[in-house]
Amino acid sequence: MTRVFSGVQPTGHLTLGNYLGAMRRWAAVDQHRADSLFCVVDLHALTMDHDPARLRRLSRQTTTLLLASGLDPDVCTVFLQSHVDEHTRLSYLLECVATDGEMRRMIQYKEKAAKERDRGGSVRLSLLTYPVLMAADILAYGADEVPVGEDQAQHVELTRDLAVRFNQRYGHTFVVPRVTLPGVAARVMNLQEPARKMGKSDESGAGVVYLLDEPDAIRKKVMRAVTDSGREVEYDREGRPGVANLLEILAACTGGSPQALAGAYESYGALKKDTAEAVVEVLRPVQARHRELCADPAYVEGVLRDGAQKARAMARPTVDAAYRAIGLLPSVERTELMDVR
Ligand code: TYM
Repeated sequence: MTRVFSGVQPTGHLTLGNYLGAMRRWAAVDQHRADSLFCVVDLHALTMDHDPARLRRLSRQTTTLLLASGLDPDVCTVFLQSHVDEHTRLSYLLECVATDGEMRRMIQYKEKAAKERDRGGSVRLSLLTYPVLMAADILAYGADEVPVGEDQAQHVELTRDLAVRFNQRYGHTFVVPRVTLPGVAARVMNLQEPARKMGKSDESGAGVVYLLDEPDAIRKKVMRAVTDSGREVEYDREGRPGVANLLEILAACTGGSPQALAGAYESYGALKKDTAEAVVEVLRPVQARHRELCADPAYVEGVLRDGAQKARAMARPTVDAAYRAIGLLPSVERTELMDVR
């Protein structure tokens, strides 16, 4: 059976970008057709300046939202990265296969490090090595597919390179995974700055629809979306990024194609109104289920406990195999160690 792995960082409130680019597909498709794992990657949230209490809150909220979006712990595995030591165990081995040049070429590293330096801050070393930990997340489980939004495609490419390199040097150990992207909304853009990705860590939330925004807040944000000075509704990502973004969001929410939808509108106002309503309707059941789950924190805790147990059992054999393959002696009782020698 196909194995699927994906993850989300608890670094901010989840956005419509996370939902349309990744989570919705995990719940609607991936969990039902594959043996799948979905991970709240809390260790990744330590790569930038963070507040421990906020991280704890966001880790719970992110888990609750994954379940609210429809992930069913009876058919998939939902867990926290820090509950399974295999991720960091494997990450170190992969650091010994990756090069610093590869790390420095990662677009997200370049962008985030530059922003941090502009602020006068220092860049954590873990921000540089983060894609290796991400590769470990994926390779530990022998995942065949990694469903993500477009911004993560480069990291999955790197994961493939590391898997191939390790296998060539030390013998076949890892499955070489492939990225899967959604047909539309692979890169949902900020409604105020359509040249920029809609991100959960954006400083101003004006162009970001959060999954837990009230319907009226969603309507306001979509109605105020930046478009351009033209009048015709055309799907042109380069020339009219704001309008194209709205068309993609509408298409992702209603099932049409952005090109076909463009022909159905004569004004930006009508397009915005329908997009706003479509987003409100798509998020309504997620928000309702989130409210129910918040009233039952013990259930969410239980999901994480069981998920970590299942995940550990899946990751352990592959990570142990990687330790042996790279030349590390197995950890055994002294007498057995003599035999190994
Ligand atoms: P993260 O937490 O930034 O985002 C989670 C998922 O949401 C997608 N996404 C978007 N898709 C479309 N439009 C957007 N504006 C948008 N914003 C976010 C992301 O592509 C992602 O699929 N490094 C990863 C987390 C991670 C991971 C992994 C993913 C860690 N280990 C292993 C897959 C496999 C990240 O920061 O995602």
